[in-house]
Amino acid sequence: MGDILEVRDLCVDYDSPRGKVRAVNKVSFAIGKGEIFGLVGESGCGKSTTAFAISRLLRPPAQVSSGSIQLKGQELTHLPEKEFDHLRWSNISIILQSAMNNLNPVIKIQDQLIDAILAHKDISTEEAVKQAEYLLGLVDISANRLNNYPHELSGGMRQRVVIAMALALRPDLIIMDEPTTALDVVVQNGIIKKVLELQKEFDFSILFITHDLPLMLEICDRVGVMYAGKLVEVTKRETLLREARHPYTQGLLESFPPLKGKKKRLKGITGHTPDLVTPPSGCSFHPRCPFAMSTCKQEEPQILADNKGIVACHLYGKEGDGFEQLQAASEGNQ
Ligand SMILES: Nc1ncnc2c1ncn2[C@@H]1O[C@H](COP(=O)(O)OP(=O)(O)OP(=O)(O)O)[C@@H](O)[C@H]1O
Ligand SMILES: [Mg+2]
Repeated sequence: MGDILEVRDLCVDYDSPRGKVRAVNKVSFAIGKGEIFGLVGESGCGKSTTAFAISRLLRPPAQVSSGSIQLKGQELTHLPEKEFDHLRWSNISIILQSAMNNLNPVIKIQDQLIDAILAHKDISTEEAVKQAEYLLGLVDISANRLNNYPHELSGGMRQRVVIAMALALRPDLIIMDEPTTALDVVVQNGIIKKVLELQKEFDFSILFITHDLPLMLEICDRVGVMYAGKLVEVTKRETLLREARHPYTQGLLESFPPLKGKKKRLKGITGHTPDLVTPPSGCSFHPRCPFAMSTCKQEEPQILADNKGIVACHLYGKEGDGFEQLQAASEGNQ
């Protein structure tokens, strides 16, 4: 399976009045063709900043300060704006949390869809209208809605229109940043089901961003867990459920009710995410980590890559697999 997206050592900084904030810190991951890759983590951990860097939506004071982003082998970080515009929609689309951020409120749905199509395809307006009708059909919206303005549709319908637009030029990659967070659960489930159906049909790759780990685990093939701008664990969905290795990932899993099985008391993670102007020394998670050792305060953990995925934690690596140790400590804590 060839990689569609490859992000390597990506760093994004914000220049804030209080000093430089490294919001994305040496993040590396790849997404294969047709793969659904998730980024999860608490608010402020850098998920959107990563998505915006990939889709060129970062605006000052944010900037990519180093690293590489390749889409089907093409380096994006230094691509001139005009050339990037060619890739937008046709190779890479982004869907944001609020459909209103994706749609222009003063332009009819039809014109927005058609504009996107005509900007990239040399076809007649008539043909573009037909395609717009077809696209709306894909997301179960009737063609007579083409004449509506975005505010005339419900939130769920608007987000479906956005999905139709994102699909219009059959991109290789669709980035979805909390696409259903603003919607109620029933509408959310309908939209997620639709996205999965369309993904099966058209085989595009998805970078799916959410802070909702159970939702992520339902839909993603692989999951990357971010904390304070760093990717601390990447693993397949099944492995994560069975054997989350990073204490932060374990904490996240324990913050949500289990998907299946007996309900238990939620433990959550104590403390809060660090101020990135003055991040903690060593491992950024150590002030909140129930397993923190003295090395964790002093040294940043190396990334360990093995057949289970990657994990950046001092419990793993030098002295072999710390999973048993973590399990034993976790049982002792209960
Ligand atoms: N305009 C800004 N100026 C300075 N720092 C910023 C700015 N915007 C974001 N940041 C920093 O970037 C970090 C990452 O923000 P980002 O929006 O990527 O997080 P996120 O994981 O998407 O969070 P959420 O779940 O709330 O959407 C924040 O913790 C903050 O420190
Ligand atoms: Mg965000």
